[in-house]
Amino acid sequence: MEINNICCIGAGYVGGPTMAVIAQKCPEIKVTVVDINEKRIADWNDEDVENIPIYEPGLSEIVAEARDRNLFFSTDVDAAIDKADMIFISVNTPTKTYGIGKGMAADLKYIELCARQIARVSTSDKIVVEKSTLPVRTAEALKNILDNTGNGVNYQILSNPEFLAEGTAVADLMNPDRVLIGGDIETDNGQEAVQALVDVYAHWVPKDQILTTNVWSSELSKLTANAFLAQRVSSINAMSELCEKTGADVNEVAKAVGMDSRIGSKFLQSSVGFGGSCFQKDILNLVYIAKSFGLEEVADYWEQVIIMNDHQKRRFAANIVKTLYNTVSGKKIAILGWAFKKDTNDTRESAAIYVVDYLLNEQAEVVVYDPKVKPEQIYADLDYLNTRSEKENRDRVTVLNTPYEACEEAHAVAVLTEWDEFKDYNWSKIYDDMLKPAFLFDGRRLLDGKKKKEMGFEYYAIGS
Ligand SMILES: NC(=O)c1ccc[n+]([C@@H]2O[C@H](COP(=O)([O-])OP(=O)(O)OC[C@H]3O[C@@H](n4cnc5c(N)ncnc54)[C@H](O)[C@@H]3O)[C@@H](O)[C@H]2O)c1
Repeated sequence: MEINNICCIGAGYVGGPTMAVIAQKCPEIKVTVVDINEKRIADWNDEDVENIPIYEPGLSEIVAEARDRNLFFSTDVDAAIDKADMIFISVNTPTKTYGIGKGMAADLKYIELCARQIARVSTSDKIVVEKSTLPVRTAEALKNILDNTGNGVNYQILSNPEFLAEGTAVADLMNPDRVLIGGDIETDNGQEAVQALVDVYAHWVPKDQILTTNVWSSELSKLTANAFLAQRVSSINAMSELCEKTGADVNEVAKAVGMDSRIGSKFLQSSVGFGGSCFQKDILNLVYIAKSFGLEEVADYWEQVIIMNDHQKRRFAANIVKTLYNTVSGKKIAILGWAFKKDTNDTRESAAIYVVDYLLNEQAEVVVYDPKVKPEQIYADLDYLNTRSEKENRDRVTVLNTPYEACEEAHAVAVLTEWDEFKDYNWSKIYDDMLKPAFLFDGRRLLDGKKKKEMGFEYYAIGS
């Protein structure tokens, strides 16, 4: 089966970059990315490619090359569905905020809406690909809706979870460790659909890196991968607290441990805690699934990863208060970095949000600088917590355009995102312009602590 026309529903952090790379690598396939968010689509179509809504190194160049050649962004969802042979569903699957499973289960309402729309609109056979991260056995529900409400056309459902990491999305998509495709491999039609998607990726991914499995293994593998990654962060963060009490240094421990080839060196960087839209939501979803099968010990085991992560954020903020003579009331605290990691403008679940919320509860005056995050996003993130009024958030938090302004006359500076540029600032100027003692809290272990102490800073890093 040859694929000529792809539609992707959802022009977000996954749909946008993934489809841009498919379009670049498969110039004979027409790729249309659709979204109900008109502003987002208008931004993807902005004449100046630097204004596309998602910042990822290398992405704007790819969009410049493929856009209006075989890559299109549109709000006409119906038309794109109808014309497509293959439809990727790449919509958001946040944690439920209501009803059964509130605070744990994935909210699948956006997925179901997509399925119903596909069923309503389609007049020819389709391969529907789950790109969103979904609970195991969601494909069954999708198939049920499509088969029972559709126009009598045939559907094949594939699971093709995305393993890209924000900040390195383009490199990850160009050179994936593996591509995973789950399908109904017991049947000829299922195998044919799997092969059609394999052929798309085979334009640039070596065949031995394209794994095919049954749908359920594929769905569960994505949750498992995120759970394992997050678990490593919580494991090293648990050790960071012990290091602080014992005089060990968490970087030295991580290096010694990571050189064991059975353990490996990646993802052992201690920090103020992981953020991002995925780790927490996917682990909570895993916990919910385990609980719904009565697997209490499995659920408790994974939940501990989240408990540790929340603890790390809280204890970082609490340490700032304690170190500043047990009060930050009325004190100016400069925050460097709001994105959940470097090289992205995504702030979802960023540790910065929670650290600042804690400091505001302690009546600090907060000033924020981030190279890529816009002020309205920072305020929206704080408003979303509902801890205080929108007016109060705006009165007590100032967002500035330069780091030097942000740190001027500050009692303390806290580094919360590992942006490379932070390392190269003129730190002696920052020191001179701060109130003394000049406290510097490094939540990413990004800076050279020894040099900062020599400059006169009271320097504190997680894990030493
Ligand atoms: N962000 C990541 O790094 C990452 C990595 C791997 C997997 N995932 C998974 O991919 C999925 C998407 O994540 P994201 O970060 O791209 O989310 P996102 O919020 O950035 O994008 C989702 C988009 O879908 C659109 N949408 C929702 N319902 C729609 C509908 N009915 N019709 C058309 N558009 C609709 C929204 O307007 C939004 O623009 C999630 O399931 C996530 O868990 C994310």
